[in-house]
Amino acid sequence: MTGFSAQWLALREPADHRARDVSLQAKVVHDLEHLARVRPGPIKLVDLGSGSGSNLRALAPHLPATQHWTLVDYDPALLEAAKAALLSWADKVVNEQETLVLLKNGKHISIKFVREDLSSNLDAVLSLPMDLLTAAAFFDLVAESWLERFCSLLSAPLYTVLTYNGREVWSPSEPTDADMLAAFHTHQQTDKGFGAAAGPAAAGLMETLLKARGFAVSNAQSPWKLDSSDRLLIEQLAIGSAGAVLETKQVSVDVVDAWKQSRSMALTCEIGHIDLYARPRQF
Ligand SMILES: C[S@@+](CC[C@H](N)C(=O)[O-])C[C@H]1O[C@@H](n2cnc3c(N)ncnc32)[C@H](O)[C@@H]1O
Repeated sequence: MTGFSAQWLALREPADHRARDVSLQAKVVHDLEHLARVRPGPIKLVDLGSGSGSNLRALAPHLPATQHWTLVDYDPALLEAAKAALLSWADKVVNEQETLVLLKNGKHISIKFVREDLSSNLDAVLSLPMDLLTAAAFFDLVAESWLERFCSLLSAPLYTVLTYNGREVWSPSEPTDADMLAAFHTHQQTDKGFGAAAGPAAAGLMETLLKARGFAVSNAQSPWKLDSSDRLLIEQLAIGSAGAVLETKQVSVDVVDAWKQSRSMALTCEIGHIDLYARPRQF
């Protein structure tokens, strides 16, 4: 497993929520509000690689009043963490059994947790009933061949946020930034369980593949913009990036260590992401 910890996901959650592009999100909300007006029943959403549920907490407060979410992840510890985080996020818990039902900001939200490995069981997940397929910080992990298959099977609208696009600006800059970033990109393209990862190329590939299938695709930049109020996140990011670069052996240990020390104290840092909304023709 890729081993994302619940602590790391909790640390990045405020920056993730700030970064999401609000104009693109408004288009998604507009379409789902229309659907809720013309069709009875809850809006059904499936969240791929749901981690501890951050994507739901960001999006659900903006969506129609009755929602059913399926959170899909292969990591049982993260599915448990998601349940715990959602229980404490709720204004009221209506049901805590197999399907969690809660109230938040006047929304009635039911949530099912599904443990599934998306590298092998994609078909089963894509055949779940859904009005929107969503994901956050997930698609840069997958391989180009997996993306091709995913796009060929997709029939629902897709809203995916925070796909890493490879752009980073740390301030003040360091002479070793470019070498470190190149090595980090090498690491981004290593196998994360789906074959060699598309990494920073994923969002562009997805856009091309979905357009070729007749989807209407919109995208927007959603960079993390971190400053002194995100000190702990900047530190952990520097430590994580340095660790990834060391694994590539492309940069000497001394250079990596010096970069890690200075980057842990960076004043600001911008990490590029892309949000994407793709609608099939008939939607
Ligand atoms: C960067 S985390 C993002 C988590 C969450 N979407 C968020 O925004 O906080 C990537 C997530 O994808 C999940 N994941 C990675 N490979 C997976 C696979 N093969 N099947 C299912 N989930 C996977 C990880 O367990 C992790 O929860």
